[in-house]
Amino acid sequence: MNSPIWMPYTQMQGAPAPLVVRSAQGALLELEDGRRLVDCISSWWVTLHGHCQPRISAAIAAQAGRLEQVIAAGFTHAPAEELARRLTGHLPFLPRLFYSDNGSTAVEVALKMAYQYWRNQGAGGRRRFLSLEGAYHGDTLGAMSLSGRSVFTEAFGGLLFPVDFVPFPQTWMGDGEAEEREGLALAHLEGLLRRQGEEYAAMIAEPLVQGAAGMRMCRPSFLRGVQELLRAHGVLLIGDEVFTGFGRTGGLFACPLAGVRPDILCLAKGLSGGFLPLAATLCSEKVYQAFCSDDPRHTLYHGHSYTANPLGCAAALASLDLLESQPPPYAHLEGWHREELRELVDHPHLCRLRVCGTIAALEVRGAAGYLHELGPRLRQAFLERGLLLRPLGGMIYLVPPYCLERDQLVRIYRAIAEVVSGLAA
Ligand SMILES: Cc1ncc(COP(=O)(O)O)c(C=O)c1O
Repeated sequence: MNSPIWMPYTQMQGAPAPLVVRSAQGALLELEDGRRLVDCISSWWVTLHGHCQPRISAAIAAQAGRLEQVIAAGFTHAPAEELARRLTGHLPFLPRLFYSDNGSTAVEVALKMAYQYWRNQGAGGRRRFLSLEGAYHGDTLGAMSLSGRSVFTEAFGGLLFPVDFVPFPQTWMGDGEAEEREGLALAHLEGLLRRQGEEYAAMIAEPLVQGAAGMRMCRPSFLRGVQELLRAHGVLLIGDEVFTGFGRTGGLFACPLAGVRPDILCLAKGLSGGFLPLAATLCSEKVYQAFCSDDPRHTLYHGHSYTANPLGCAAALASLDLLESQPPPYAHLEGWHREELRELVDHPHLCRLRVCGTIAALEVRGAAGYLHELGPRLRQAFLERGLLLRPLGGMIYLVPPYCLERDQLVRIYRAIAEVVSGLAA
């Protein structure tokens, strides 16, 4: 197929022709050639309840017949107001909300809020940011600056502002050194803060799971330690829940689950249930009040054409209805993952098995790194078994839609065992 489309994260030279998807339902994608694939990664971690979830589809259709879009400055509408009230209701320490349209822009907004928060108060000396090694916060320049330096950011190094990175104390099942790693990371942060604490505006962190870094997981105690140190030095904490939000880590949001209360929080991906681009940056009253002033220069001059799009908000409200049902639709997945991972724990070619809520990951020994040649081979082997998986090098992860059935999950784990054993043969 000679398509004009330039695909994301794809070396187009020699790229295999993309698979054409005709339709989708629940956890299944149907291709034009009739093949069916289980979507084991929720199509880049967005599809929460399954594809074409009927309540969300109906909510969008109904909204499209009423109000499809309206300028968001000086105007508002019921879905945006209700969604903001419900989201801030779940996160009462963050009573203010700014809409945008994807994870990167949610992060850009957070970055600008944190920077201008200090400037508006005459503390313009707080200009530096802290982040975690390996972090991924998006592909716009500010979000890239806050992300760990990698093959993603390399070409743009000259455009990025400097950020101080703190080691990320990743852990896994059976790890006996988590505490030590955590202590070293916190000591590193403490050292930076002691030396130049008054120069930092904020630190950003993906709570509990670093997604694009390779589904790296940390203990809640680390995040609590980070929060304590930042508070002692008056530095703001930004929680990037673009990936972890909406049940992914086993709680509706990872920050409260981990016992931390960031000053600013970014949401996107699953916000609309995976139907439409929508994002939100929430903040504390303290942050918000620093922008309320007689001086027009204290305004947050930021916005997007589709800010608070009514269709996205209607989808998000329908998704929240589903997420708020009891028991929550994501609650069972961690137990299912643990049962299946137990079978693989002694596999000679696998290591660092880990799970956090609905997210599970494991690594093929000796195949670390995003560009490891094993990645495309694994992807192909899973495709041949009817599974959409997108291993990062030799790191295989599952981020399934919550509607995934038990026998589908069993099939995925069997395929992983078979493919990995086959590699070694
Ligand atoms: C933690 C985190 N923040 C931000 C982003 C960027 O989101 P988007 O791809 O919607 O711009 C991502 C995307 O994977 C992410 O995982």
